[in-house]
Amino acid sequence: MDAPPPWKRPDEWPLPIFTDRLELRFPRHEDAQQLFDAVDANRAAIVQWMPWPKTENLSVGQAHYTIESFVRATKHDLPANLPIFIIDRESGRYLGGTGLHDFHPDRHQAETGYWVVQDRNNEGICTEAVIGLTEAAFRPQAEGGFGLRRMEIRCAAANVGSSRVAEKAGYVLEGTLRSHYWVEGKGWADSLIFGTTVDTWTKP
Ligand SMILES: CC(C)(COP(=O)(O)OP(=O)(O)OC[C@H]1O[C@@H](n2cnc3c(N)ncnc32)[C@H](O)[C@@H]1OP(=O)(O)O)[C@@H](O)C(=O)NCCC(=O)NCCS
Repeated sequence: MDAPPPWKRPDEWPLPIFTDRLELRFPRHEDAQQLFDAVDANRAAIVQWMPWPKTENLSVGQAHYTIESFVRATKHDLPANLPIFIIDRESGRYLGGTGLHDFHPDRHQAETGYWVVQDRNNEGICTEAVIGLTEAAFRPQAEGGFGLRRMEIRCAAANVGSSRVAEKAGYVLEGTLRSHYWVEGKGWADSLIFGTTVDTWTKP
């Protein structure tokens, strides 16, 4: 059997995505103040699991720089990270970030990651965003989707909230990377890989 041709990005990225409460859309320069405020208020919570707030968005000026790099990423055929902002449809408030990264065109695969502001945690915001994004990821390009066939989520084994999001969004635990990365003050720690495929995923 011949391998299918490699995945190519759609001519137009399939954004924004609307869910019941959220708009998932590309970053804009006018988001810089909101991005800085949100990251600054949540820096310690995010840094436990993701290193970037240590060095990024330390000022509104740096948030503009981040957004500029995000805007440029959307122009690439195969961006290292296709950034997506999670926006509250009702208030327009920036609630956090997600996106697609680690595209593997030969496997028609990408990975997603996420964070949500602490004062809106445990309301199902992240799960709703991941479900909306996964639905668009698997929708054929001819029907306005990304046309991917496999999606992954990787997280620290100790990050119970993140694992729950993956499970609630319909992803299945596929493996444990043992002693995979170093946690400051704690030592080597395990990571989990969750996955789902276009043939097996059903919208929760
Ligand atoms: C992980 C994170 C994105 C979850 O966002 P959220 O909008 O609160 O997620 P949801 O409300 O959709 O779901 C969270 C689930 O985790 C559960 N949860 C959260 N923290 C938990 C904990 N410490 N122990 C057990 N369950 C926990 C919640 O109860 C909820 O599950 P439930 O609906 O079964 O009760 C958010 O906490 C965050 O941004 N954390 C910091 C950054 C991060 O870890 N990003 C992921 C890196 S891989």
